[in-house]
Amino acid sequence: MHNFDLFQIEKSLEQEIKSINSLKELESLRVKYLGRKGIINQLTSKLALLPLEERRLQGQRINLLKEKLISIFSSKEDQLKLSSEIKLVPVEVGLPGIIQSLGKIHPLNKVIEEICDVFLRMGFSIAEGPEIETEYNNFTGLNIDLEHPSRDVFDTFYIEDQNLKFKNQNLLLRSHTSPVQIRVMKERKPPLAVIVPGKVYRPDAIDASHSFMFHQIEGFLVDKDVKFSDLKGTLYLFAKEIFGKDIKMRFRPHFFPFTEPSAEVDISCIICKGKGCYVCKRKGWLEILGAGMIHPQVFRNVGYNPIHLSGFAFGMGIERIAMLKYGIDDIRLFFENDLRFLEQF
Ligand code: PHE
Repeated sequence: MHNFDLFQIEKSLEQEIKSINSLKELESLRVKYLGRKGIINQLTSKLALLPLEERRLQGQRINLLKEKLISIFSSKEDQLKLSSEIKLVPVEVGLPGIIQSLGKIHPLNKVIEEICDVFLRMGFSIAEGPEIETEYNNFTGLNIDLEHPSRDVFDTFYIEDQNLKFKNQNLLLRSHTSPVQIRVMKERKPPLAVIVPGKVYRPDAIDASHSFMFHQIEGFLVDKDVKFSDLKGTLYLFAKEIFGKDIKMRFRPHFFPFTEPSAEVDISCIICKGKGCYVCKRKGWLEILGAGMIHPQVFRNVGYNPIHLSGFAFGMGIERIAMLKYGIDDIRLFFENDLRFLEQF
């Protein structure tokens, strides 16, 4: 018997074991090699025929081979057991998966995105400003005199801590988004077409139509020869995009210190189409924003020359528009985080 034969036995086992897929098959293979009448035992029984010296040598070789075969069998056994365990994990592909609840965009943000999109398509760009403002940007720069009675209209949360000042100015929670007009105009040069979405604060008692915090979108455009008709055309296009092409619009004279002339802008009631209902309080019209031509004093305050420039500005409350658009009758619903409400959008 040659070393070569023993090597062949190991090779042929390695070959045969590859096609084994169950413990039962493995057991019969083990019998073939390691069983009582198996290959190894047959070799051992032939040893007696050899002379003593050779017998010892071959005996050692056969033992070595036997150990190798045993380890081949045992690692195959481990492998088969492991894969049968994996197969035992039940996977029912017909069952529905685990439902992942996806978040949604808040209705106010949806309306903000929609409105911004309309103006972006008209060539406006978006700017933002801080919610904590200086008294100058919120009032004085906008031509709202500190003693002027119109200050009451923009009733304001002041930051009373006198140590909290910016360049010696009182700080407050901005009561409208108009201060961003001052910031942007001071920073950039015309032509400008900008919209500003953001939060504003007023110390109003909370009820179905008032909240101490709400959202506005400001818009303004500055260039040479900007006319009131440009303002009308821009707002009309906006209203048609947001409320539908049949919407009507009217401008009522109004007063804002930072625009002249100023107007309050109404749309025909989207519920009754102008006939009169409880939403429009039988008027047929819904007020949706304030607007006007930028006051020359505002231009001077930011270092622009009102002789060469003109512009328009407008500001609208987002909650009111969202309430009209979706038929929501209580502003508090936006801020209570009630999923039964939020999931509807
Ligand atoms: N800032 C005004 C408000 O909060 C709205 C407005 C903006 C009016 C721009 C005219 C021009 O009511």
